[in-house]
Amino acid sequence: MKTEKSIIRVENVSQRFATPKGVFLALDNVSFAIAKGETVSLIGHSGCGKSTLLNLIAGLSRPSEGVLLCDNQEIIGPGPERGVVFQNHSLLPWLSAYDNVALAVRQVFKGEMSKSEMHDWIVLNLELVHMGHAMDKRPNEISGGMKQRVGIARALAMKPKVLLMDEPFGALDALTRAHLQDAVMDIQGRLNTTLLLITHDVDEAVLLSDRVMMMTNGPAAKVGEILHVDLERPRSRLALANDPLFHQYRQQVLQFLHEKHRAVA
Ligand SMILES: Nc1ncnc2c1ncn2[C@@H]1O[C@H](COP(=O)(O)OP(=O)(O)OP(=O)(O)O)[C@@H](O)[C@H]1O
Ligand SMILES: [Mg+2]
Repeated sequence: MKTEKSIIRVENVSQRFATPKGVFLALDNVSFAIAKGETVSLIGHSGCGKSTLLNLIAGLSRPSEGVLLCDNQEIIGPGPERGVVFQNHSLLPWLSAYDNVALAVRQVFKGEMSKSEMHDWIVLNLELVHMGHAMDKRPNEISGGMKQRVGIARALAMKPKVLLMDEPFGALDALTRAHLQDAVMDIQGRLNTTLLLITHDVDEAVLLSDRVMMMTNGPAAKVGEILHVDLERPRSRLALANDPLFHQYRQQVLQFLHEKHRAVA
């Protein structure tokens, strides 16, 4: 991959944690790049270091060794160019869906957008995730899937260069998850957003990604294999259900997870 097209670069990154039992090496010399507009998923067994890696890119922690760059700038902390969506929505319970998004928009675009521009932008992003009809509801008045959609709208509304998602659909039922996967693919297609997605779901990884990065088990986790998913976009889950190539990709990921790097009991 050409360096100048990369929006995220992770170079020789290692992460150590001090534990009561001594130093724990979570990530060992990890390097990769993500191109602009690319969707990459990170898959691997529980505890291998996926969230550790995403948190480093989000700027929520600093690496023990190595460098992380976003758009050629070293990542030294969180920033609005890197939107983050976690598994459990982190909405403020006393604010409506609208106000949760508004809070982020005001923070990022204060002085740049007028009040009415901000309003239109907030509504547009909520409509993008099909939450236009429920934007005055508070988190306890809407379903888990709807909360997650508001979280995605909030992240998108900050116009991030990169959207980082840590198991964003993990806590949802299969049907809601499918709806949200389609919504994310649709938004990605329209805005050409760069996406890094952590998932445990092999079908989700193949369906959404241009590349699937498979991590080896920790300690000292690395990117073990990278699968290039060469399926045309826009992708339809129904059409792909009968696509031999889709099944071949799926099989390759499963094989990596089950045979080569069995979870440590
Ligand atoms: N702050 C910390 N201090 C000590 N050890 C940590 C810390 N954060 C993570 N670890 C360890 O690093 C390893 C990787 O953790 P991480 O949360 O990145 O895994 P993961 O791949 O996201 O797992 P899961 O799929 O279960 O979310 C684990 O062994 C974990 O115990
Ligand atoms: Mg995790």
